[in-house]
Amino acid sequence: MSDHRRAKITALGTYVPPRVLTNHDFERMVETSDEWILTRTGIRERHVVDKPMATSDMAAEAAKCALAKRGMSPKELDALVVATVTPDMLFPSTACLVQHKLGAAGLWGFDLSAACSAFVYALQVGAQFIAAGSHERVMVIGSDTMSSILDYTDRATCILFGDGAGAVVLEPAEDGVGLIDFEHEIDGSGACSLYMPGGGSLNPSTHETVDKKMHFVHQDGQAVFKYAVRKMAEASETVLSRNGFKGSDVSLFVPHQANRRIIMSAADRLGLKEDRIIINIDEYGNTTAGTIPLALESARQQGRLKKGDLVLIAAVGAGFTVGATLLRWAC
Ligand SMILES: CC(C)(COP(=O)(O)OP(=O)(O)OC[C@H]1O[C@@H](n2cnc3c(N)ncnc32)[C@H](O)[C@@H]1OP(=O)(O)O)[C@@H](O)C(=O)NCCC(=O)NCCS
Repeated sequence: MSDHRRAKITALGTYVPPRVLTNHDFERMVETSDEWILTRTGIRERHVVDKPMATSDMAAEAAKCALAKRGMSPKELDALVVATVTPDMLFPSTACLVQHKLGAAGLWGFDLSAACSAFVYALQVGAQFIAAGSHERVMVIGSDTMSSILDYTDRATCILFGDGAGAVVLEPAEDGVGLIDFEHEIDGSGACSLYMPGGGSLNPSTHETVDKKMHFVHQDGQAVFKYAVRKMAEASETVLSRNGFKGSDVSLFVPHQANRRIIMSAADRLGLKEDRIIINIDEYGNTTAGTIPLALESARQQGRLKKGDLVLIAAVGAGFTVGATLLRWAC
């Protein structure tokens, strides 16, 4: 990407709904314990929406926050990419709903589906628009209402996820900062390890699909765990070495927040100490497309993100999807 015009993140905004579900709340819902959840996942609590809030509402709130920080009007945006696996509806796209809620006339956009890697993929799509010279200001949002597709009687999945959103504004970078390179990969051989079988063209919604709970998340936790540890580290190593960096050069590792043990194993392989890693899974659980911007915001609030810092973002999600992005922080 070095020959192209680089994109940089010029503003970051996030939103989480106010209602909190703690591990102790789950003790009253399924056979589990705060101790099991905390030691196996690192999660203490997660935020969940109250009806009628949906993915587009959280996305619009995060977008407004980012625009306000940049002092930018929604009308100045050229494109909008919404990363989500929980769109308000199958169609129209959540991007259309967000555009309308923002009053962002005259731009175009679409949804991007890549589960937990969706934000890093959308970031790259936005960066490519800027690199091509066709766009000057691209809004990239990750927003997921995981509570809408969870079976709250299945202890193996319901404790893992939360709701939340984050948005960034991408603009051309002139000053050596911004997105440097990426290493993304999809591997559909893992499709049956993490999926929602009902509601699509294969299994359209019927009373039977609902009775069989096909409209909920289904997961082989151990298969996802093993794949995530290996691929998060591999993609990160590839993008680092291709650009002449080692793990020790990374100022901040911003991993997808699926499980604290996955993060620590991947970081260990990369030779990264805990003071270089952002972990906020304890507060939010896995918000799917929301985790990376929420983690960036936590880093910013903790004063751990400064202009010029070398930031490594990595994610693995359903698909499987794998993504690693290297950038120099710009705002
Ligand atoms: C889901 C996950 C936390 C389970 O942890 P694990 O250590 O692999 O646990 P296992 O699946 O081996 O289950 C061990 C036992 O705990 C039980 N268990 C599962 N969920 C439980 C819960 N919430 N509370 C208490 N016990 C639970 C299982 O039923 C199993 O019991 P058994 O031995 O009697 O059959 C872990 O596999 C994981 O995080 N996987 C990746 C998930 C992920 O990241 N998904 C999103 C990807 S982006």
